[in-house]
Amino acid sequence: MGCVTSLTPGCLHFRVYLPGLLVLMLMVTAKGSIGPSNNSSFCTESKECLLFDVVCKTGEYEVRHYDPSRWVSTDAEAYFMGVGAAMAFRRLFKYISGANEEAVNIDMTAPVLVKIPEERNMWEPAVYTLSFLLPSEYQENPPKPTTEKENMPEMNVYVRSYGGWMLSLTSRLHSHLLTRALDRVRASYNSSYHYCLGYDSPMKLLDRHNEIWYVAEGEPVCSVPQHPASAS
Ligand SMILES: *[C@@H]1O[C@H](CO)[C@@H](O)[C@H](O)[C@H]1NC(C)=O
Ligand SMILES: *[C@@H]1O[C@H](CO)[C@@H](O)[C@H](O)[C@H]1NC(C)=O
Ligand SMILES: *[C@@H]1O[C@H](CO)[C@@H](O)[C@H](O)[C@H]1NC(C)=O
Repeated sequence: MGCVTSLTPGCLHFRVYLPGLLVLMLMVTAKGSIGPSNNSSFCTESKECLLFDVVCKTGEYEVRHYDPSRWVSTDAEAYFMGVGAAMAFRRLFKYISGANEEAVNIDMTAPVLVKIPEERNMWEPAVYTLSFLLPSEYQENPPKPTTEKENMPEMNVYVRSYGGWMLSLTSRLHSHLLTRALDRVRASYNSSYHYCLGYDSPMKLLDRHNEIWYVAEGEPVCSVPQHPASAS
């Protein structure tokens, strides 16, 4: 899917890999949070997509509410987001292609998600977490390996969407534009990490859709004026 494979041309530079540990992550409880892809304008290539409600919207970002959902994840320790994400992607892809205890094939869903710690020091590696959303039929009972489950509460996220390919420079630019917009309206969000999401396979060349998410803290804020002139 786009998030990862579109990163491959020079964006990810994973130097060190943690042992190929797959974990199931309970992210945002589960039924109803995943549905047919035709319910969304930008989730077009997979049978099912993660569903959400729009809380509010400005010219610069959107606030969405997500219900809990379950993902399968793997970590990679790296210096830069770059080429190596393809390897983390392959690990997850093997799992959905039958390398699991029940030997079942699991459909690919969208989006693919990468958790990215805010960069503090370019010279130290950071841990990136790559996740695939489990389709609705496996939300309750994901096939093993199930070494661990992480709980994350349901959440509101600030979302900035962008087209093209999710190269690291582009995603850094958009995360910067998003935090600038959020800081201007004094929105509270967890600034220790953000998510980078991809909705398209590398086969899709036009109308690609990517997103940056920051997890909102407290009441979401959407008070930036709509007209583009206000954006400086
Ligand atoms: C499609 O989205 C709407 C809200 O946008 C929701 O009410 C509806 O349940 C969704 N349908 C499916 C099949 O998920
Ligand atoms: C969406 O897809 C479902 C089956 O996946 C189908 O029954 C439904 O008619 C579709 N709706 C639209 C609006 O295309
Ligand atoms: C922000 O996220 C980090 C990493 O997940 C977590 O340790 C921290 O507690 C979060 N901060 C707040 C205020 O929730």
